[in-house]
Amino acid sequence: MTESIRLINPAARESALKKAGYNLFAVRAEDVYIDLLTDSGTGAMSQEQWAAIMRGDESYAGARSYHRLRSVVEDIFGFKYFVPTHQGRAAENILAACLVKPGQYVPSNMHFDTTDANIRARGGRPVNLVIDEAYDPANTHPFKGNMDIAKLNSFIKETGAENIPFGMVTVTNNAGGGQPVSLENLKAVADVYHSFDLPFFIDAARYAENAFFIKLREPGYSSKSVKEIAREMFALADGMTMSAKKDAIVNIGGLLCMNDGILFENVKNELILREGFPTYGGLAGRDLDAMAVGLYEGLDEDYLTYRLGQTAYLVAIINEAGIATIQPAGGHAVYLDAASVLPHIPQSEFPGQALCVELYRQGAIRGVEIGSVMFAHSDPETGKIVYPKLELLRLAIPRRTYTQSHMDYVADTLKHIKNRASTIHGYKFTYAPELLRHFTAQFEPL
Ligand SMILES: Cc1ncc(COP(=O)(O)O)c(C=O)c1O
Repeated sequence: MTESIRLINPAARESALKKAGYNLFAVRAEDVYIDLLTDSGTGAMSQEQWAAIMRGDESYAGARSYHRLRSVVEDIFGFKYFVPTHQGRAAENILAACLVKPGQYVPSNMHFDTTDANIRARGGRPVNLVIDEAYDPANTHPFKGNMDIAKLNSFIKETGAENIPFGMVTVTNNAGGGQPVSLENLKAVADVYHSFDLPFFIDAARYAENAFFIKLREPGYSSKSVKEIAREMFALADGMTMSAKKDAIVNIGGLLCMNDGILFENVKNELILREGFPTYGGLAGRDLDAMAVGLYEGLDEDYLTYRLGQTAYLVAIINEAGIATIQPAGGHAVYLDAASVLPHIPQSEFPGQALCVELYRQGAIRGVEIGSVMFAHSDPETGKIVYPKLELLRLAIPRRTYTQSHMDYVADTLKHIKNRASTIHGYKFTYAPELLRHFTAQFEPL
C-alpha cells in the first residue's frame, strides 16, 4: 500500500491550526506531511493480511474467521477464554464494567489514558506504581517500565486487597515512554498480586516489542524466540486486554482474554450489549482474519529488528540536534522532553502542547502531547490540580510506513524549533471535557 503525502505552505498550516483550536487531533490528515500522531491502527498491512481479508467469513455466529483467530490467540497467549473487541478500550470498558466498583483501586506500572479513563468512568481509581527511574528522562535503566515491587506490596497492604478488584501491568509502558518491563519484574508482580489473591491482567498492546526488548536486554533470553518469551509473559497472568492496532498490525481490533470461567460468562453478556456476539465482538469477519495473520507478523524478529532500529535511529538524530528525549529509546515512539525544550513555559500553560503546535507550524508534522493536557486532574479530596511528573511530546512511528528520509526531515524540523525556543508561548484551554480531554480540547495561545 502506498499513499502520497503533501506539504502545505506555512500560511495554510497557520490557518489549519487556528481552525483546529490548536488541537492536532482536529487537523485534517491531508494537511499533515508526516503523521506521527499515533502508531495505533496506522501501520501498513502486508499482502498476506490483505489476502486474508478477502477470505473473511461474515457469518453472524461461529464464522471460520473467528476460529482462525481463536487458534492463533490460543497459540500465542495461552489463556482459556477470549473475546474479540473493536479496539483496546472496548476490552478495558468490558473488564472495568465486570470488575470495578466505585471507590476501588486498580494498580499498574502506568495506566494508559483509555485504561485510566475506563477505570475512573466506573468510579474506580487508577494507581501508577512504576519504578522511580521512569520519571527521570535521562536515566538509561534497560527496563524503565518495571513496577516498583516494594511500592506495590505496601500499596496493597495499606489499601486492603478487598478494595482492589484486579491488578495490571502495561507492556510496553506507553504513558512512560514505550519502555519495556522485564520478565523478572513481571514474575515478581505476578507473585505479589497472587499472594493477595488478586487477578493479574496485562495490557498487551505492545507485547511483541516488549518481548523483543527482553530478548535483547535481559540475561538468559537471547536464544529464546520472541514467541517463547511472550508465552512466558502471559503464563504469569490471569488475563489480558489488547489493542490489536499496535502489535497485531491491523487498522482496527482488540482482544480480551482470561482464565476465569465465571468472569468469561459476565464478559460475554457485556460484550453482547456493547460490541456484538462473542464470535465477532464488534468486528467484521475480515477484520478477525487480518488480525490472525498480523499477530504472527508482529512477532517476526526481522521486522522487530527494523522496527526498534528505526525508533533508536530517530532518538539518536534528535539527540544530535540537541533535544532531550526519554532514554533509552523505547519501542514504538520517541518522547521529547518538552519541559527541557521550553523551560520557560510552566505546566499550567502546557509546554508539551506548545511544542506539538510548533512542530506542525514548522514542518506539518503531527505528534501528541503526553503531559498536563492528557493527565493533569483535580484531586477528588483536595480539589487541587495534580500535575504529571513529565511533560512530553510523543512522536509515534507507524509500523512499516515511513523511511529513514522521513525521520531525517523530523530531526531537521526540530533543529529549527530549538533555535527559536525562547520565543514560543504557552496555551490555555477554551474548552475541555472531563475525561480524555486531549482528544477534543480547544486552546488559545497565551
Ligand atoms: C498501552 C495502551 N493500552 C490501551 C490502548 C487503547 O487501545 P485502543 O486505541 O485500541 O482503544 C492504547 C492505545 O493507544 C495503548 O497504547
